[in-house]
Amino acid sequence: MKILIATHNAGKKKEIQQILGGAVEVLNLDDIAIVVPEPEETGSTYEENALIKARHAGDLSSLITIADDSGLEVEALPGELGVKTARYGPGSDADRYTKLLRAMSGIAQRKAKFVSCIVLYDPKDKTSHTFLGEMPGSIAHEPRGTNGFGYDPVFIPEGYDQTFAELGTEVKNTISHRAKALEKLKEFMVK
Ligand code: IMP
Repeated sequence: MKILIATHNAGKKKEIQQILGGAVEVLNLDDIAIVVPEPEETGSTYEENALIKARHAGDLSSLITIADDSGLEVEALPGELGVKTARYGPGSDADRYTKLLRAMSGIAQRKAKFVSCIVLYDPKDKTSHTFLGEMPGSIAHEPRGTNGFGYDPVFIPEGYDQTFAELGTEVKNTISHRAKALEKLKEFMVK
């Protein structure tokens, strides 16, 4: 069975393939012959944005498609990241997590959680299913580690002392918000 993921991100493709296993062949937007322009993420929730991406790519490709939308929720900065996490600041991932660390300087309450929403969309009958995963943790005081992407160097998952970027993808992929949502998706698909 082939499944399209509505992303150009090779890291996400690898992570999703690893979790879904060999029964499913995961393709991303670079693996198909059709050009799928990125839609505007105009939704106000993770689910709306994931559905926009999954529908758009699924209807253009006629393939069963999954899309994910995720974000980091920081308790001391309510509403500042969340669904807008990727747009929290200009520049690179490092610029954004540096901005976050500055905003958190002097703040002792560092609780945060990563949220992942995955939507599975079937263009044949236009149905969709939603799967949610969360990983609670806290914001580090300085960036640590070189693995992963995004805010990984500043996020310490609950139960660990190291950041996601220090723990590495193998550990991260067993505990992350996306892994939890993907496990639910996998369960649904093998039913
Ligand atoms: P997107 O929904 O994949 O575009 O992610 C939204 C934002 O959350 C981006 O800034 C990502 O870098 C960040 N993000 C999502 N998942 C992770 C993760 O597993 N580690 C670090 N950052 C993440």
